[in-house]
Amino acid sequence: MKNESATNDSQLTSFVNRIINGDCIEGMKKLPAESVDLIIADPPYNLSKGKPLRWNNSVKLNGMGGNWDKVIVDWDNMTFQNYWDFTQIWLNEAKRVLKPTGSIWVYGTYHNIGVTNVLFQKLGIEIINEIIWYKRNSFPNLAGRRFTASHETLLWGHTGGGRRRYTFNYQDTKEMDCKEDLLKKRGKQMRTVWDIPNNKKPEELRFGKHPTQKPLRICERIILATSRPNDLVLVPFCGSGSECLAAFKLGRRFIGFEIEKQYIELTNKRLDYEKQNKKQTRLSGD
Ligand SMILES: C[S@@+](CC[C@H](N)C(=O)[O-])C[C@H]1O[C@@H](n2cnc3c(N)ncnc32)[C@H](O)[C@@H]1O
Repeated sequence: MKNESATNDSQLTSFVNRIINGDCIEGMKKLPAESVDLIIADPPYNLSKGKPLRWNNSVKLNGMGGNWDKVIVDWDNMTFQNYWDFTQIWLNEAKRVLKPTGSIWVYGTYHNIGVTNVLFQKLGIEIINEIIWYKRNSFPNLAGRRFTASHETLLWGHTGGGRRRYTFNYQDTKEMDCKEDLLKKRGKQMRTVWDIPNNKKPEELRFGKHPTQKPLRICERIILATSRPNDLVLVPFCGSGSECLAAFKLGRRFIGFEIEKQYIELTNKRLDYEKQNKKQTRLSGD
């Protein structure tokens, strides 16, 4: 038993606090079973259909988060069957590596969250909550043929069975002071609708941006609510590294997987800056 856990530890060490270039399914296969405390997955939504949409450059986008392009990328364009299979395979690996005391978060919109929901149920990942991330400053509907999409959905689940041993820092969420969230008052229970503006602060874009970059505010909320210091956070779809950076800032360990080298470089720049900055803060405080 002791030897087995020693092997597991050494298997993990080479992954911890690193962004690994490669497919997360292959990557997760190399991790020991029940070895991570929290998974935050922002997978492809399978949205890259049709033609790219672009704003006319003459249109000023003050307050809209800058120039906006519809995301059309290869990693986000699959047939329904392929998307179903892909989601089932990565979720199955995620389930295997998740501790029974841990939990998993998955982002989506109506395009993909139904698939994720059904697969959670099929694979025995119990849904704890469905969160609506309300994006007050969402982008207007250009064609005027439907309502303006202003939310994303997150599923939060666990694999621990009826004992429900996952971490939920209930008191912290109640006391959380979310200044920008008009639906959350300090001292009141946190609801399943989160009002978090989607704009990124300048420091989040210091080294460049990712087309579907999540604001640090939402990553930090997830981590503070559902993990403990030094916990291991797995981020299967790292992108620009928002979840990994939030984990690092909050004293958690992380493992990130990403197929695109350019985003690994971006993530590493963000992480390096944070490390440097933390050091400087400490030194200037001496
Ligand atoms: C929705 S984005 C994540 C954005 C991230 N939350 C952020 O804030 O930057 C998904 C990312 O997953 C990557 N990706 C797609 N398929 C992948 C796979 N099979 N394994 C690892 N990464 C993958 C894409 O290159 C993309 O950067």
